[in-house]
Amino acid sequence: MVPKSFRQAVWDEPLIFELSSNAKKTFEIDEEFKDYAADAMRKLPVEALRKEAPAIPNISEPEVVRHYTRLSQMAYGVDQGPVPLGSCTMKYNPKIDEELATLPYITDLHPYQDEDTVQGILEIIYLMQKWLAEITGTYICSLQPPAGAAGELTGALIIRKYLKEKGLSDKDEMIVPESAHGTNPASAVMAGFKVVKVPADSEGNTDLESLKSVVGERTAGIMLTNPSTLGLFESRILEISDLIHGVGGLLYYDGANLNGILGIARPGDMGFDITHLNLHKTFAAPHGGGGPGAGATCVKKELADYLPVPIVDYDGRKYRLRYNLPKTIGRMTWFYGNIVPMVKSFIYLMMLGPSLREVAEISVLNTNYLMRKLTSLKGVSLVYGEGRWRKHEVVISFDRLHKDTGVSAEDVAKALLDRGFHAPTIYFPLIVPEAHMIELTETETRENIDAIANAYEEIVRQAYEDPAKVKDTPRNTSIGRLDALVGNHPKTVTPSYKYMSRLRTG
Ligand SMILES: Cc1ncc(COP(=O)(O)O)c(C=O)c1O
Repeated sequence: MVPKSFRQAVWDEPLIFELSSNAKKTFEIDEEFKDYAADAMRKLPVEALRKEAPAIPNISEPEVVRHYTRLSQMAYGVDQGPVPLGSCTMKYNPKIDEELATLPYITDLHPYQDEDTVQGILEIIYLMQKWLAEITGTYICSLQPPAGAAGELTGALIIRKYLKEKGLSDKDEMIVPESAHGTNPASAVMAGFKVVKVPADSEGNTDLESLKSVVGERTAGIMLTNPSTLGLFESRILEISDLIHGVGGLLYYDGANLNGILGIARPGDMGFDITHLNLHKTFAAPHGGGGPGAGATCVKKELADYLPVPIVDYDGRKYRLRYNLPKTIGRMTWFYGNIVPMVKSFIYLMMLGPSLREVAEISVLNTNYLMRKLTSLKGVSLVYGEGRWRKHEVVISFDRLHKDTGVSAEDVAKALLDRGFHAPTIYFPLIVPEAHMIELTETETRENIDAIANAYEEIVRQAYEDPAKVKDTPRNTSIGRLDALVGNHPKTVTPSYKYMSRLRTG
């Protein structure tokens, strides 16, 4: 089979197996190796031998290279242009981070090496344990948790163990705002808590009256992100902190949204006892499909003994892995955690130093600049916190546009794809109807933001003039509109779903 087109965004790129042809002679095992292979096969147990030859596509090197290059061009990444996914902090990652973190000094290390031979990496972990504590206003951090959600689970397990040690196991309720990221209630449940929801008030803050009505003897703690998933700073956080501490509960900070206050405000100073940071977002390591995560989890001094092990200690001469924390919740993953994002974040911090706060300043400026542009469009509104400054992100609602024209938030997102832009997060948080949650970060230029705003303006105008045209998108992408309902159903996510269901049924 031949591809239908060689242009950049390829339509219907065949599978590599479809490009294969037995008529082509592309690979041959030389005689010497055949003998060697035959000899090796004789030594293997019969049951380990293949019954049939493996299906290796018969395709030449240039065709392999072109096939994968064409596929790579069908994808869109932050190295091509902005990825404004809210609650995701998809910033450009400096290439020096990538380069240094993948040097053999890092990648060739083996986790079973003797501590004396890995002093360099242990020093990096030790410094990160301290620096991240300084940034968050806490005492010490564990670099073990391999993702943000794993950091949340670490925190929730620490809260549970801490309460148990104090003889307060009947404290079994974790308060989570309605606008929270889904991983928050999930982590609380996994740690054995019951989740109690609280709504937001019209300002976008946690509704204090509702909070007061649910806080009580059974309150184990609260999981909050500040700025919230609405991009708004929780202005009464000190009152919330007093309220929760007043009943003996603890405050957990979801640090995935730290970008907007980085180097300016610290969760520890707001009263939070435990904080996780998404190193793979805030500290410039690729997020999501871009690579493994690191959900460093930081605690105040009185919780330090509960951290996962090992942590790295320094005796003035050598760095050592320490396993004997008296109250540790145990391991959260194998070995030291995900080293590569950790090293990338370390380099990022080394480069920025005290100018870290500019990250927050520029990302906030960018967000508010875009917010002003978008909220001036017909059919677009802010459901919460009208007139308030945003921090790292803004959530706009197309509810009016939808009611006026039938064009939904999803249609607008698809129309953005057609204009060459990556769509933002849509329909989250659930408390905003027809939502677009947009996070631009400090790495976008004014020209890029103007281009995004102009695309939105054009789509909204078209929605009022000719809504069918907006609904008939995307047309310029390698695949057209997917059936979101089918796409979202777990049973249609075939390979991993099948694998997971096998695991669950044993
Ligand atoms: C607010 C918030 N909390 C937690 C998480 C979970 O982080 P991770 O995806 O690394 O598990 C995310 C991820 O997008 C998030 O946006």
